[in-house]
Parts: sequence; C-alpha cells; structure tokens
Amino acid sequence: MTRLARRPPVSGLLVAVGLLVGCGARAPAIDPGAWQAPLGREHPLTGRIWDVNAARFVTPEALGARLAGARYVLLGERHDNPDHHRVQAALVRALLAAGRRPAVAFEMFSADDAGAIARHLTAAPRDAAGLAEAVGWSRSGWPSWAFYRPIAQATLDAGLPIVAANLAPRTARALARGDRSALPDGLAERYALDRPLPDGGQAALAAEISASHCGHIPGDRIDGMVLAQRARDAALADSMVTSSRDGAVLIAGAGHVRTDRGVPVYLRAREPAAGIAVLAPLEVRDGWTRPADYAEASGARLPYDWVWFTPRMDDADPCARFRRLAPLTG
Ligand code: HEM
Repeated sequence: MTRLARRPPVSGLLVAVGLLVGCGARAPAIDPGAWQAPLGREHPLTGRIWDVNAARFVTPEALGARLAGARYVLLGERHDNPDHHRVQAALVRALLAAGRRPAVAFEMFSADDAGAIARHLTAAPRDAAGLAEAVGWSRSGWPSWAFYRPIAQATLDAGLPIVAANLAPRTARALARGDRSALPDGLAERYALDRPLPDGGQAALAAEISASHCGHIPGDRIDGMVLAQRARDAALADSMVTSSRDGAVLIAGAGHVRTDRGVPVYLRAREPAAGIAVLAPLEVRDGWTRPADYAEASGARLPYDWVWFTPRMDDADPCARFRRLAPLTG
C-alpha cells in the first residue's frame, strides 16, 4: 500500500505524474478531480488503483507509464458515473502528455454517426461541444455529453481523430433477433464469430446477458443477444485496428473492455503481438474493503489489467427497472 495510491476523501490532491518522457521533462499531473458520485467517498479503497496482474496497488504515475507503453489502451466505465469519465479523461490527457498520438474510439458513436462527425469536424475541427448536436446526442439514450466532452476535447486539441467505433443500433438489434445476415461484411471471418468464445467464454457471456436482463430474455433469444454482443465487441476492436495510427484508445462500457471475453479477445486475434492495456474504474461497495472481494464477485479474477476504485452512484436494485418493462420478446 503506497501513500500516493491513496486518494483523500475530497479532491485536492494533485499527483505529480512523474511520467518522465525520454528527455526527463515532467508531464502534467494525473488528477481526475473532485469526486462527483455520492456514495463511498470515504471508503478505504476509493481512489486506489489495483494492478490485477501484479496483485498490488500502484500509483497513478505508474499506471500512466504502463498505459503509455501499450499500443491499444481500453478505458472502461459505468456509463452514468461521472467519476469514471473523469478518470478516463485524466488518463487520455496523460497519454497525450507522454507523447502518444492515438486515435480515440468511442463506443457511444456508431457507424451511423461517422458522417455527421466528419462533417462537423471539417467545419469546426476543435469543437467538441458541438459534436453532441451534430450526432443528435440528446436522443441517443447515452448519459450527458458533459461526461464525455472533456475526453473528446483533449483528443481534438491534440489534432487526433475521434472514431465512431460501434455497430449501428439497427445492426445490433437485427443480430439480437437472430438475423445473421446483418453481420457487417467480413466481420465474422476476421474475428471467428462463427466459433464459440474459448475457455467457457460463450456460456459465461450467455449467463451474464441473462442475469443482467434479470431473467426477462426468453431462452430462445439468448444466442442472438450473445452474437450481437460479440459482434459489437469485434466491431469495436475492428475500429481500433483500422483507425490505429500511434495505436488507439477505446472509451467503452466495462463489459466491453473485459480481458477475458470483450474487445481485447478480438484485438489479440488480429494483432497477437500488440501491447494491450485495460483499465476499468470500479465502484466501491460497503464492506468490500479488499480487491479480492471484487474479484470473488466477478468469478475469481477481475477481468481487467487495472481497476481504479471510485465512489458509486447508488444502491438501487438493478432489476427494478425491468419490473416496469414488458417482457423482451422476439
Ligand atoms: C441495467 C442493465 C441493462 C438494461 C436495463 C438493458 C436493457 C436492454 C433492453 C431494453 C434491450 C432491448 C431488447 C429488445 O430489443 O427487445 C437490450 C438489448 C441488449 N442488451 Fe441489454 N440491458 C442491460 C445490460 C446489458 C448487459 C450487461 C449486456 C451485455 C453483457 C447487454 C447486452 C444486450 C444486447 C447484446 C442487446 C441486444 C442488442 C442491442 O439492442 O444492443 N445488456 N438491453
């Protein structure tokens, strides 16, 4: 346990990054800023970063240095937790300060948005705020653009591309309903989508989808939902590979960046030798004071390279909203 890895309850701590880049110049601090999520700010793990592979806490500067050394950097999130986006923005800024020039791909932008993004950025190359209107963000169902705007602004300020990485929603819906012909050309072949995920991943993903929809998905729809999820992950990987310049960063939900069955699986299939680094912010839970508590809840091992513990948004029952929905049918 290092002092620097520990975050004070209220913001204020600027961690001197110490990302010494070649010539010894000191890069700016990595600082997500004051916590915004309401619960767990005083939790003993809040603000600490756990290196899953090394099984120890690390400092933000140690994490930043490792991310800067990877070709592909995946930054997860719980979509509605503002602290997760602040962590992502701080890490993107640290990568840029370390001299990296990656493309930055967003799950939240789909193939349908690519044209509008290109048109907007041709007219206003540094205008991250205006991207929301350009793509009709307020109708998209994603949380406030204010969460994502600092990440996009840092990307544009550095003159780097924003990549619309996701499948079009109608494609995902068609796949979820069993229409394999909706698969984009060549995606299944490039990412072996005709074969089950290895190491029990296929069954684990099916179980996760069933559980996360609280039993509302009829059994005969699960295979389609699994294919939709896998095609999404393959498309996100494909976007990173094809847009890669000095590598690529992905901003996506924590499920998509899982090292065991998410985007990293498909990146490894395309580029086995490429360095891949995955960080997921993780909400603290009352009484869970050791990283092992979170690992046990995920099966046995946390499916990321690092987790950055943050306050949590709420203690709501995730299944409550499904009780208000009609059963999901084909
Ligand atoms: C609170 C959590 C969640 C809610 C409220 C939710 C809700 C929904 C709803 C309402 C649909 C549309 C179903 C239809 O078209 O009939 C859907 C589709 C889908 N969900 Fe979820 N879901 C949640 C979590 C997840 C998770 C964790 C996964 C993956 C592990 C997932 C994967 C999918 C997939 C693959 C589809 C079909 C394709 C698509 O439309 O994107 N969902 N979800």
